[in-house]
Amino acid sequence: MEKLWVIGIGAGDPDQVTVQAIKAMNQVDVFVVIGKGAEKQELVDLRTAILAEHVERPYRVVEVADPPRERRPDDYGSTVDDWHDRRAEVLGRVFDDITGTAGILVWGDPSLYDSTLRIVERVREKAQFDYEVVPGITSIQALAARHRIVLNRIGEPVRITTGRRLHDETVTNAVVMLDGDCAFTEVPGDDVDIWWGAYLGMPDEVLVSGSLRDVEGDIQQVRSELRDRKGWIMDTYLLRRR
Ligand SMILES: C[S@@+](CC[C@H](N)C(=O)[O-])C[C@H]1O[C@@H](n2cnc3c(N)ncnc32)[C@H](O)[C@@H]1O
Repeated sequence: MEKLWVIGIGAGDPDQVTVQAIKAMNQVDVFVVIGKGAEKQELVDLRTAILAEHVERPYRVVEVADPPRERRPDDYGSTVDDWHDRRAEVLGRVFDDITGTAGILVWGDPSLYDSTLRIVERVREKAQFDYEVVPGITSIQALAARHRIVLNRIGEPVRITTGRRLHDETVTNAVVMLDGDCAFTEVPGDDVDIWWGAYLGMPDEVLVSGSLRDVEGDIQQVRSELRDRKGWIMDTYLLRRR
């Protein structure tokens, strides 16, 4: 492999693919897509549609099955570490077989809760190749734009965290991602507002906002109905204490 492009493609809206991403995609001979199982086929399809729309030269797509991973391990850190090793092994083998330029399309931006760059660095411990990163629109930016909000009040910090860690955090402004358990219901107090979005930028997008205590039940219900209907859900939200 001559070179690898790691390209952020935005969080679901095909119009949020940047010009820089399109230019990078048009230098790639082989796109490596890491599949995550049938339930997220819609996301794989979206990547395929982005390529079909923007790439004007011949290319190949190689789909790689993601090695299985324990979802709720006792030792989260070492389980994920081991999973990254297995992913790096699989990717290393795929890269070995590529002549020319490879590309990996990353959901949103590669800098935010995504392991691609860490795994690429692991592959590079055993193989030499150059790589470049192209930023993408994150789900956080998509959330803020759709709700027409600024993430912080003037001069305040914003914390980006996960559902799993939310209980440890003091909420002033907290953006929460990767929350499978509606962790917002555990946040105490009647003085918190929420701006929630699911499938941002996609045809099934749903937005809910308001006082957390007033709307948390609605969000739980909508979230569970949507997840049952589609088989998967991606949602992000901002919490802010008044
Ligand atoms: C593994 S992280 C990837 C984040 C991605 N790199 C980014 O820049 O947005 C997946 C989480 O991102 C959030 N997410 C990604 N796309 C989303 C979308 N279209 N709508 C709502 N949340 C989304 C959800 O919190 C989801 O659990």
